[in-house]
Amino acid sequence: MSGVNEIRSAFLDYFAANGHERVASSPLVPRNDPTLMFTNAGMVQFKNVFTGLEKRLYDRAATAQKCVRAGGKHNDLDNVGYTARHHTFFEMLGNFSFGDYFKDRAIELAWNLITREFGLPKDKLLVTVYSQDEDAAALWRKIAGLSDDRIIRIPTSDNFWSMGETGPCGPCSEIFFDHGDHIWGGPPGSPEEDGDRFIEIWNLVFMQFEQLGPDERVSLPRPSIDTGMGLERVAAVLQGVHDNYDIDLFKALIAAVENVIGSRAEGEQRASHRVIADHLRATAFLIADGVLPSNEGRGYVLRRIMRRAMRHAKLLGAREPVLYKLLPVLVSEMGRAYPELGRAESLISETLKLEEKRFLQTLDRGLALLTEATDGMEEGAKLSGETAFKLYDTYGFPLDLTQDALRSRGIDVDLDAFKTAMERQKAEARASWAGSGEASSDAVWYPIRDRVGATEFLGYDTEKAEGVVVALLREGAETAEAGEGEEVSVIVNQTPFYGESGGQLGDAGTMRGEGVTVEVLDTQKVANGLFVHRARVVSGRLKMGAALELEVDHARRSRIRANHSATHLLHEALREVLGTHVAQKGSMVGPDRLRFDFSHPKPIEFSELETVERLANAVVLQNEPVETRLMAVDDAIALGAMALFGEKYGDEVRVVSMGTAQEGEKAGRTYSLELCGGTHVKATGDIGLVHVLSESAVGAGVRRIEALTGAAARDHLREQEARVRRMAQLLKVGPGEAVERLEAVVDERRRFERELAEARKRLAMAGPAEGASPAQPKEIGGVSFVGRVIEGVAAKDLKGLVDEAKTALGSGVVAFVGVAEGKASVVVGVTPDLTDRIDAVRLAREASAAMGGKGGGGRPDMAQAGGPEADKAADAVSAVEALLTAL
Ligand code: SER
Repeated sequence: MSGVNEIRSAFLDYFAANGHERVASSPLVPRNDPTLMFTNAGMVQFKNVFTGLEKRLYDRAATAQKCVRAGGKHNDLDNVGYTARHHTFFEMLGNFSFGDYFKDRAIELAWNLITREFGLPKDKLLVTVYSQDEDAAALWRKIAGLSDDRIIRIPTSDNFWSMGETGPCGPCSEIFFDHGDHIWGGPPGSPEEDGDRFIEIWNLVFMQFEQLGPDERVSLPRPSIDTGMGLERVAAVLQGVHDNYDIDLFKALIAAVENVIGSRAEGEQRASHRVIADHLRATAFLIADGVLPSNEGRGYVLRRIMRRAMRHAKLLGAREPVLYKLLPVLVSEMGRAYPELGRAESLISETLKLEEKRFLQTLDRGLALLTEATDGMEEGAKLSGETAFKLYDTYGFPLDLTQDALRSRGIDVDLDAFKTAMERQKAEARASWAGSGEASSDAVWYPIRDRVGATEFLGYDTEKAEGVVVALLREGAETAEAGEGEEVSVIVNQTPFYGESGGQLGDAGTMRGEGVTVEVLDTQKVANGLFVHRARVVSGRLKMGAALELEVDHARRSRIRANHSATHLLHEALREVLGTHVAQKGSMVGPDRLRFDFSHPKPIEFSELETVERLANAVVLQNEPVETRLMAVDDAIALGAMALFGEKYGDEVRVVSMGTAQEGEKAGRTYSLELCGGTHVKATGDIGLVHVLSESAVGAGVRRIEALTGAAARDHLREQEARVRRMAQLLKVGPGEAVERLEAVVDERRRFERELAEARKRLAMAGPAEGASPAQPKEIGGVSFVGRVIEGVAAKDLKGLVDEAKTALGSGVVAFVGVAEGKASVVVGVTPDLTDRIDAVRLAREASAAMGGKGGGGRPDMAQAGGPEADKAADAVSAVEALLTAL
């Protein structure tokens, strides 16, 4: 049972058997505490449960929690590697009671586990209690049967645990293991307590208070229990070793370092092996939890850890990136307990390789500079702050790396001068913003960005987190607070809200704090990484410094995600169908639909669109995980990742890959590979369905497609189907026969129209008179005249009728007025024998005038005209008759 993996399981099994819920470790980036850099104890994920803010379905829990302590209250990065028990990353085993059991049961559970399950001899154990905690002392006597000399009262804050400046806290009781008198040291509280003989293995915190501020502490609603046992420490005890780095897990990692670099973990090199083994764990777990190396915030702490490991690899003789080669060993040791490690393996590996490659390029030059600058310096001397700053600024040496490099020679850095140099550089950077084009439009944002730093974006892997308001604006000016109904711009130190960029719209959602609710309408990314939440205070007052629960509108974000991932698939499918000249020209990814513009010289055939849609949906159905990696931009492009032309990318880029190509020359390889900073679905199946709506032109050589995904696509298709059903109903057939039936109906209609026209003609020639128009020719001054109004005959058919009438008449004048769709038209015909006396054009004009019309045209034997007042059609015939009479 002594391997690290077995000890972890035994601990969790024991507490599960004792009625505890087995809860998974929370991520290293705390979602519920913006003041905390990393999760540093098992209780962090339960902070709000202790304070009563949050309810869970259980009131006892047990965890193995990933923790990072790298600087700040709990650890000093510089010590790691040089001592037996300092780590940046470690696992904390803990059991928790939320108002359920308290001191007695906590002590009993702990004592039984270590003495019965783990079998530690009682005479090797002793405990401490807070000096005023008589209860705890009495319980140890009673439950464990420990004599008074083994229950040590500690008067200092050592036995009062708190997670940080604020949060739940309480007196604690620690269990120590005596490694034996061959190691120097005394029990806690003794003058030799700093020795290494007596080692704390378990801390039982009797959570009773909540620290609100430096001088403000309140009681928790219900006394609770939080315990923490360092897994590496207890493993050392159970494996009979004194040093954490000698446990099975670290032995495996250190052996891997020896193999990969080809150096022995002996003598002076020992520390370097340990640094690398420890830092590899922190690096891998941080990256798996969404942190990437950068120059600010958490990313910078990660970069410091990575670079420190890299410098030690260099010290051991590594000439090229090596750290990523150790990763498989870590994954095989810890990947079963923490599957996220395996899932993120390629991301971790690429990130390590990239960081190491870049750092190695400057490391030699930086180290040479450092050697030169410290040449001849004695122990106790100080390196100039300017040099330390140059190393930082030009060579990427974090300050503690420089300090670490000088440590063995006893040389310090002039910290004041370093800070001055840093301030000066910031001031210069500020001044240069004022001159850039971007600065003028963002004049208000840059000073804020400078003051509060870039916003840390947590939204790639969470939609909920806490943040603290670091800037608040109303009507474009900073303000200390804002009230109900007011529109504000809110900036917080970290956020899960995506700021609009790369075509993807910003997130909406809510922010809630004590007595205040804010609706986030949109989020914008401005001034080099500042996330601005455009929001409205729904109730209460929003104040600077307020701690807020930030929650992205999940449904909206999910739709955006599906649309964004679908855009990538469509992009690739378009290239496959239309050709590789297709390049992205723009896109809009919103919650309702997506739009994708691309270069292509001509309209897209419907059948081509169908193929594009089919290809994209085939990848959706593969339902493979969407992978995101961080790479050097050149490597990404060499891999074939699609980038936007003319887009400025940083040195490092996110590369999103989706699906496996089934056809063509790429068969078997990644289907879509794109540089992209957006948010995507977890697996392609989450897109549900891609449906292309339309294709259109947006400019010379640029086409646009619009598409829907998921429920929106389904709803759209449902509506279309409803239309087909309705159509079928009207046609009185099943939906399957509707098209055929409709074709028949259309044919029939054409036939009817033809027949109707024929019938009208016949009617015109022979049918009964309409209105006052006579059917038989009239004699007017020796000229035969036929004049009629014909309903339902359009202008285009009149001429034929007039011709026929002329022929039938032999000699005479014909005037037909057709009325169709509220319009009247007249055609007048004169047989050739009469054209020298009678002009058809004149007659047509006269007829038109009678119907409120003007003009008319034609030849003397055939003319036509129109008239707006169709109800006066009979008058038009009379007008022709009257004119003939007058001739
Ligand atoms: N929170 C306490 C610690 O970190 C016990 O879990 O030591």
